[in-house]
Amino acid sequence: MKPLHKHPTMAIHQEEPLNAGPPLDALRRAYVTPQEYFFVRNHGNIPTIDPATYCLSITGMVEQHLELSLAELKAMPSTTEVALLQCAGIRRTEMAAIKPIPGELLWGAEPIGNAQWRGVPLRTVLDEAGVQEGASHVAFKGLDEVWRYGEQVGFGGSIPLEKAPDVLLAYEMNGETLAPTHGFPLRVVVPGYLGARSVKWLSNINLQTEPSKNYFQAHAYKLFPPHIGPHNVDWNNGEMLGELPLNAIICQPAEGAICQAGHITVQGYAVSTYGVPIERIELSTDEGANWIDVTILEPSHPWSWCFWETTLALPVGKHQLIVRAWDVLQHTQPQEIEQVWNFKGYMNNAWHRIDIMVQDDVVI
Ligand code: MTE
Repeated sequence: MKPLHKHPTMAIHQEEPLNAGPPLDALRRAYVTPQEYFFVRNHGNIPTIDPATYCLSITGMVEQHLELSLAELKAMPSTTEVALLQCAGIRRTEMAAIKPIPGELLWGAEPIGNAQWRGVPLRTVLDEAGVQEGASHVAFKGLDEVWRYGEQVGFGGSIPLEKAPDVLLAYEMNGETLAPTHGFPLRVVVPGYLGARSVKWLSNINLQTEPSKNYFQAHAYKLFPPHIGPHNVDWNNGEMLGELPLNAIICQPAEGAICQAGHITVQGYAVSTYGVPIERIELSTDEGANWIDVTILEPSHPWSWCFWETTLALPVGKHQLIVRAWDVLQHTQPQEIEQVWNFKGYMNNAWHRIDIMVQDDVVI
């Protein structure tokens, strides 16, 4: 296996293909997630790509097909943007505790990270190719090998053309060359969307009238209602996932922690939806009967998470801490996981709850 430059505390959910995530307290330490703590979500191999011969093709409904080398891409005007990536399978473990979700990785709240990306705006490349009238979707394809049902399906996905102005074709992450694990030499970054649309090891951009027919757009990463399961699913139905939902997470203390009585620091992160700023984040210790406002630490940025914290004085005993966020449009999160449960375990944004024990004799 290639050197991954990942911290040894990263939990490996799967070796082949590699899937790994950081401990929540490490994630909450830095607003811009260091690469060593950035989660890894792969469906296939990590391809070895020679940057000297690498080429990005732009095809489909464009005035002229383009083939761009890495050097040509890097010579184009670049921009830098801080944006989070989040896997659609986040908090699947909580869903699976209610009803099993077989065949999917059991992620907690850790497949998420906020990075500073540098690259070429997708718009610049599309303008150079010239988008034809009638094109309405931008499809991306990666160079990794991914097999499903005995067929090499590769990894791909698409976004509606109107999302293109937000998108970056990134070759740097946190001021460093993109690591092989994260898509070297070039990846898509679609801020505000599920991570699956941020295709790594990008080889082709195709302009078309329909969403991508790739397995990971047309089949996986679709949302079905709770009564649908593997036994009765019609894959032609289901909602293709796009925007991330509003979500708030407690990172510290950890689930099941034993805390010293006195002042307990509670910290976490929150994610907005459609880039709408988060207005307030609330914490409850009594099943949602009463809520206190926590402190939001960063000014709102449309595509990044925000960190929050508060201090609680709790009596000795068992407690459940619950967090929820509100945005400026007064959207908030669903109360119960049952409301969002789906058989693929995507996009869990129910109130986040953790159970802790407060004692006055904790030995550290
Ligand atoms: N791109 C390719 N080519 N192959 C993949 O398996 N995984 C996607 C996306 N891009 C994937 C991909 C998923 S599901 C997510 S959540 C993000 O990459 C994860 O990006 P990261 O591994 O850099 O954190």
